[in-house]
Amino acid sequence: MKLARLLCLLLSLALLAAPRMVVAQRAQPARNAQADIERRINALVARMTLAEKLGQLQILDGEANGNFRPEHRDMVRKGLLGSTLNVRGVARTNELQHIAMDESRLKIPVLFGFDVIHGYRTIFPVPLGETSSWDAAAVERAASIAADEARAAGVHWTFAPMLDIARDARWGRIVEGAGEDPYLGSVMARARVRGFQGTDYSAPDRVVACAKHWVAYGAVEAGRDYNTTNVSERALREIYFPPFKAATDAGVGTYMSAFNDLDGVPASANPFTLTRVLRGEWKFDGFVVSDYTSVEELIKHGLAADGADAAQAALNAGVDMEMVSRNYNQHGAQLLKEGKLSPAVIDEAVRRILRIKFRLGLFEHPYADEARERSEILSPQHRAAAREIAARSLVLLKNERGALPLSASARSIAVIGPLADSQEDVLGSWNGDGHIEDAVTLLAGIKAKVSPKTKVTYAKGCDVSGDSTAGFDEAVRAARAADFIILAVGEAAAMSGEASSRAQLDLPGRQLDLIKAIHATGKPYVVVLMNGRPLTINWVAENSPALLETWFAGTEAGNAIADVLFGDVNPGGKLPITFPRAVGQEPLYYNHKNTGRPPDPNNKYSSKYLDVPFTPLYPFGYGLSYTQFQFSNLQLSAPRIPVSGHLNVSVEVANTGRRAGDEVVQLYIHDVAASVTRPVRELKGFQRITLQPGERRRVSFTLGPAELGFYNRELRFAVEPGAFQVFVGPNSVEGLEGSFEVGAR
Ligand code: NOJ
Repeated sequence: MKLARLLCLLLSLALLAAPRMVVAQRAQPARNAQADIERRINALVARMTLAEKLGQLQILDGEANGNFRPEHRDMVRKGLLGSTLNVRGVARTNELQHIAMDESRLKIPVLFGFDVIHGYRTIFPVPLGETSSWDAAAVERAASIAADEARAAGVHWTFAPMLDIARDARWGRIVEGAGEDPYLGSVMARARVRGFQGTDYSAPDRVVACAKHWVAYGAVEAGRDYNTTNVSERALREIYFPPFKAATDAGVGTYMSAFNDLDGVPASANPFTLTRVLRGEWKFDGFVVSDYTSVEELIKHGLAADGADAAQAALNAGVDMEMVSRNYNQHGAQLLKEGKLSPAVIDEAVRRILRIKFRLGLFEHPYADEARERSEILSPQHRAAAREIAARSLVLLKNERGALPLSASARSIAVIGPLADSQEDVLGSWNGDGHIEDAVTLLAGIKAKVSPKTKVTYAKGCDVSGDSTAGFDEAVRAARAADFIILAVGEAAAMSGEASSRAQLDLPGRQLDLIKAIHATGKPYVVVLMNGRPLTINWVAENSPALLETWFAGTEAGNAIADVLFGDVNPGGKLPITFPRAVGQEPLYYNHKNTGRPPDPNNKYSSKYLDVPFTPLYPFGYGLSYTQFQFSNLQLSAPRIPVSGHLNVSVEVANTGRRAGDEVVQLYIHDVAASVTRPVRELKGFQRITLQPGERRRVSFTLGPAELGFYNRELRFAVEPGAFQVFVGPNSVEGLEGSFEVGAR
């Protein structure tokens, strides 16, 4: 007892001594409240039967429409089901919750989880799209609105943010994350966790977040979903861990263990990642839920001989809650009897889950409020935010001779293409409780934007996939009759996301032929892309006058795209992911190693291809504006800094065009020679700024040990003395270059 109190005191002192900022950032209750929670957890665990404990470790799926299943009533009543996924809507969640609170022995509230990935009912751009804004505040705001709507609908827990770094565009789930870069991914991870959780997720407008998929799921071989990954510990620490670490530091409440085999030990039974790193190194004290049946899948992986084996492996490794499969429940008692599971492991998993339920305030406020459900969901303010954030996420890839912006007083505009009037596709692949009928298509957005005198015609042309060109004639006729054509092509929403890998990255179906047919009319046109991954669009990039990447921009997609096409919003988004020229270049990413034979067009024996240039079609960080920016006057505060020192790097950015516009000023470094080889460039800072025409501003960054260090030969994070290059510019290939030294001469 005395020892416990002493430990408590020491912990309190340690917390007091912790840097203020870190404490302020974490979405966790104050220390007193935390101590109180631990007391309540202990009291509760002491009263629980084994069956009730195992019940807390179980999460089961509701129906796709948000209903719970008939068996859930009885399970909740008996304390055999602690959480559900997909059950949503106040009437349903309250009904089940009443059973837990009124009829179960211990009155432990049910935790309602749901995939609120980029919006609950008001849908924001897909995460890859949101990230293209390079605007952490916008991304945080989108997540906070998603949280507000979800909590208002009785949901407490979102299975987001998805933090998988992805470098292979074939992988369909690339759409769900923040792209290829660990630094940008970490900034977005923090923003999303803050947005979902706020500083206290017991608030009526916040939910607890879930960092997923732990870990290295984005490295699936050949981009094929659920495939094996073989990732070195160095690559884990440098590339795949950082967004998760950022989420943990921001106080994320839960984790989800991934589907993939990680170097022979599946991520849902991996003690190194689940316990040594997460609990030991990072001190994560929330709970880990498995992915959907990923405990059971340990059998197919060949790690477990049967369900009992699977439960033993996953629970002992550190997966606290089992999603959908029921091996913990079916085999827990037997495993305990055989000594293959210890009571302490089960108790600890229960504690972690109860801790989050307490932090959510569910014991005090188990029910959701129907009035909030009515007032919050799809409110005009939420739609306005969705429009604004979507417009900020669009990336202008090409604009020859000022083809854009368009004039709203054009006499006639033809809107063509299979995605031009699709409400379903603009919502993307994980659209929460989004309703198709809420979505604004591109056609609708354009009609709402232009003057009443402008004639807007529409022709679909062809489907997204399939071979028919039957609609081409009508599309060409519409194009010929119009002053300007807006052509919406890309992928259907269902072509990216889970289980939606592609071996080809071309525009599917006959869409390229449709573009060529419109091109042949000689009329001016713009291509609007809707897609969930980088595509190989070489012909379009070369021949079309203008190209706007819109990903899947959400409920307000059409209005946001029209805002940009007609110049009410000047596009300022940048690619968070590299666009290849050919699928055979994948995985293609900017922060690659130099090799001993870097690509050299004049040297056959250098690292390149015979048939395709080694460069990307569009590099990471790329994006244009309707105005122009000039970078000049790069300044470094010192030519040399100590290994523990800091360096200020600044640059002057000027808007040299005639419109106000946004530039994302990006800072990259390169450690020239080190004990392990370093990437050719690494993003270490960025700022999205707005400049008026003629305005000039000095933009500053600080580089210190956190930015200059890396995992050395011994896998210890350290700064090594030596030469560094620094680049500041508008994307990952252009910009000004400087150099400095670290360490004593
Ligand atoms: C499987 C997916 O991999 C995961 O991202 C999702 O959260 C769960 N299903 C629950 O829907």
